[in-house]
Amino acid sequence: MLTIALSKGKLIESALDLFRRAGYNIAGLSGENRRLIFVSPESDLTFLIVRPSDVPTYVEYGGADAGIVGKDVLMEQESDVYEPLDLGFGACRISVAALEGEGSNDRLSSKIRIATKYPRITERYFNARGIPVEIIKLYGSIELAPVVGLADRIVDLVETGSTLKAHDLEEVEVITQSTARFIVNRASLRLKQEPLMALIRKLRAVVPDQRSLSGNGRPSTVGPRRKKTAR
Ligand code: PRP
Repeated sequence: MLTIALSKGKLIESALDLFRRAGYNIAGLSGENRRLIFVSPESDLTFLIVRPSDVPTYVEYGGADAGIVGKDVLMEQESDVYEPLDLGFGACRISVAALEGEGSNDRLSSKIRIATKYPRITERYFNARGIPVEIIKLYGSIELAPVVGLADRIVDLVETGSTLKAHDLEEVEVITQSTARFIVNRASLRLKQEPLMALIRKLRAVVPDQRSLSGNGRPSTVGPRRKKTAR
């Protein structure tokens, strides 16, 4: 039996649809009820429904053999997991945004204050450009920060752009693009190689062309490879 951690929220319905299209019987599993664990004996799969930011942790530390999570979360957490599939759905971008008309208003004498739930991505991005920033970590409703004067800018996920628009914010720069990824625990890949490879093959068969999603279509890794002990 394989255990799969799924991100609740925006990705859950597309993730469930992916498993259905790949031929897994997951009738009864929905993103809407309060059950956090769902066992599908027919499919030999157990699903865990967890917060997006917790998916890499479950997978890295072996609470789940595999998971589905956005690339944005993987980039932020730099988790040591195998990342064999770009699933294509959940497309969005991580962008810098500011109140309309203030996007080019850099304060040269002091640090720019940036509110975000992605402090590492933000720090890496501005460090690489030699721009000093003060990062204010928030956990949600990021768009409020410039509106109430908590921050000069935000770094946040943009999907349709409607949340930015609703708060009179404009996208200043796109930092990176993101889509949902299938990730695998490194020890599980050795110990449960056969069922995991079979699952990856079935999922790969129903996602769009990998080359057009990931560039070279080869499995990619996330974060540094560290030596792990078998579970
Ligand atoms: C995300 C993100 C933006 C919004 C972007 O928030 O932080 O607020 O979606 O989507 P849009 O471009 O389609 O408007 P989420 O719904 O995950 O809630 P949060 O504010 O609690 O993080």
